[in-house]
Amino acid sequence: MTTALPVPTLVQGPTGLMLEGVALSEIAARHGTPTYVYSRAALTAAFEAYQTALAGRKSLVCYAVKANSSLGILSVFARLGAGFDIVSGGELARVLAAGGEAHKVVFSGVGKSREEMRYALEAGIGCFNVESAAELDRLNEVAGSLGKPAPIAFRVNPDVDPKTHPYISTGLRSNKFGVAFTEALALYRKAATLPHIEISGIDCHIGSQLLDPAPMAEAAAKILGLVDQLASEGIRLDHIDLGGGLGIRYRDEEPPSASTYLAPLLECFAGREETLCFEPGRSLVGNAGLLLTRIEYLKPGVEKNFAIIDAAMNDLARPALYDAYHEIVAVAPKAVEARSYEVVGPICESGDFLGHDRELAVEEGDLLAILSAGAYGMTMSSNYNTRTRAAEVLVDGAVMHVIRERETLEHLLKGETPLP
Ligand code: LLP
Repeated sequence: MTTALPVPTLVQGPTGLMLEGVALSEIAARHGTPTYVYSRAALTAAFEAYQTALAGRKSLVCYAVKANSSLGILSVFARLGAGFDIVSGGELARVLAAGGEAHKVVFSGVGKSREEMRYALEAGIGCFNVESAAELDRLNEVAGSLGKPAPIAFRVNPDVDPKTHPYISTGLRSNKFGVAFTEALALYRKAATLPHIEISGIDCHIGSQLLDPAPMAEAAAKILGLVDQLASEGIRLDHIDLGGGLGIRYRDEEPPSASTYLAPLLECFAGREETLCFEPGRSLVGNAGLLLTRIEYLKPGVEKNFAIIDAAMNDLARPALYDAYHEIVAVAPKAVEARSYEVVGPICESGDFLGHDRELAVEEGDLLAILSAGAYGMTMSSNYNTRTRAAEVLVDGAVMHVIRERETLEHLLKGETPLP
């Protein structure tokens, strides 16, 4: 059974599923549900897979904070020497609070505010991934006002089809991201004339949940052509950032390993001097985490049976948002007849489902684990229906660390006032 589960450190124990050395039932008993549970060993193994594949190259793996920005998770990667890819001042504050090094931070995103630029410059971040001509001008101005040059890369849109879900493909000409490939040269020339800008690299990111390495290799080849053209004009780059995007197994996908994914890229960059950067998110955390939840009610129906659980679309939005599939397993299956259930939350929307048509041998009060929930789970959670957000526990061998306490009603009402 364990080999069939996408979370590598989830094993069958005497009292049901265990993550590393801790029984999920023990976590639920101590900390309640719904709770996100992560495995430090799985986080570490995923990061080390990149490091191993990149051994012998000047490289930096910048974990994409948006996938999971909890301080406990960030601190694991900071200790492994990771860099970080951020998209807001808030994410920078998290990285610094978790012990990340500012000079290893790259700042992506189409809408950086002046305040965010100032904060990032003062912190001494490694690079701004600039996404428009207007942003370049603004950054030059802000850097000038601080008397601190801004290191930049342009995020260039290589216009390749990543063959993924349309909501998470970002490298096509029609997307809002990056600068057009055809405009990149002129922008670099302009940047070279600006007094407070220091050209440092080039960046691209074509999409997420990529299962085929080919589009990435195609993008890399295009980027490399541009790098050489720039060099011929005397604009030399220190680093080439190829973004994130490597997919994971949710159901039966067969994503390439980090080394298979990176092999054609490394070949393309063989013998080059530039530092090679990546911004993986999902592939570092996705299958290192699960959402532990309890069945509140079983509701047999004429057409469908419902398992109503205590987690909902506010905790894990991906099924409602993208019709995403997450494996759902009973923590300790019962000797009862397995039935097909719609696994739904308590929120007042028909879209509040976590899984359709799942065969489960369960009773009211049983625990379920919703797998592959480490990426874009907690970070996309909300307080919809005025629900408190889940707790988070990081398992490390036989030890469990609460890395985020469950929200309370005080958290929910904080900062609000009724009219006097
Ligand atoms: N770098 C940039 C500039 C990005 O926009 C992203 C993700 C990443 C890196 C990390 O990509 P990853 O390695 O995780 O594929 N909420 C969606 C995913 C949105 C991804 C947005 N950008 C989901 O739940 O599938």
